[in-house]
Amino acid sequence: MSEKRVLTGITTSGTPHLGNYVGAIRPAIEASLTGEFESFFFLADYHALIKAQDPNLVHQSTLEIAAAWLALGLDTDKVIFYRQSDIPEIPELTWLLTCMTAKGMMNRAHAYKGAVQANIEAGEDEDMAITMGLFSYPILMAADILMFNAHKIPVGRDQIQHVEMARDIAQRFNHHYGEHFVLPAAQLDDDVAILQGLDGRKMSKSYGNTIPLFLTEKKLKKYINKIKTNLLEPGEPKDPDDSAVFQIWQAFASQGQIAEMRSEFANGIAWGEAKRQLFELVNEQLKEPREEYLRLLENPAEVEAVLQVGAVKARDHSSKLVAKVRSAVGIRPLG
Ligand code: TRP
Repeated sequence: MSEKRVLTGITTSGTPHLGNYVGAIRPAIEASLTGEFESFFFLADYHALIKAQDPNLVHQSTLEIAAAWLALGLDTDKVIFYRQSDIPEIPELTWLLTCMTAKGMMNRAHAYKGAVQANIEAGEDEDMAITMGLFSYPILMAADILMFNAHKIPVGRDQIQHVEMARDIAQRFNHHYGEHFVLPAAQLDDDVAILQGLDGRKMSKSYGNTIPLFLTEKKLKKYINKIKTNLLEPGEPKDPDDSAVFQIWQAFASQGQIAEMRSEFANGIAWGEAKRQLFELVNEQLKEPREEYLRLLENPAEVEAVLQVGAVKARDHSSKLVAKVRSAVGIRPLG
């Protein structure tokens, strides 16, 4: 068990969409239900403040993301599910790690470098609108990970560098103060689909091409109808591997249904019909969780109570770790 501690965070700066579901929520819940792992899943609301500075958005997103995970079947008896900001030891550890982090390494973080590059290209001062939050973001993330001595961090490609930085920081800390941290590794699951969005690019909030996870049936139909297709007429054979409609179908369908749709494409299924079937398939799977999701949104105190239980469990780990680490750096009672 001890080699299999899995941890991941979800930034609370938006509404969950189908890409989040297929790429992160569904595989995480499935893995946690096998009982093979000790899972830590949390709402990264401190991370949200780096990109979202609208308090209502951060607050609402926290509720929506928590409700989505719960509605989709997360079993909080089997996993530790908590909100980052309920763990005061996280910012405390962040500082202890900050003092062991090379500034040069932070200069190389993709998110920060990308922002500097964009400023330079726009002819602006290179630091324009760049906060210390963005600059130090990988250290906060390292604290999230190292706090719970997690081994495996399931993340998307864009986050691999951050996990490597957490590993680097842990190594440096261990070297200087003694072995306190497990060295984490990113886990990229090749079986997990990266869903295409309405325009065929990766479904992502930053591209504005997402399909929100819990829409009304009417709206879900509308969104699916907006998925980009080509001009091929009914009866003309279509290439499934070049189609976002088929790609999304694949993420929800059984092997048999995938094979059937492949031959429907070869037989020239009309785009309207393919989309109608896609709607039926997706809607069928989301119907029940949608009801539970809407119920939870109406009962935020219930969600809050679940998070408080999670916080108690998480703090059982974090308070012990931080006590040890404080002592190791020389912050301890006199005499
Ligand atoms: N930064 C991650 C993201 O934007 C979210 C996150 C915060 C995270 N802390 C984490 C992921 C710790 C894994 C482990 O996707």
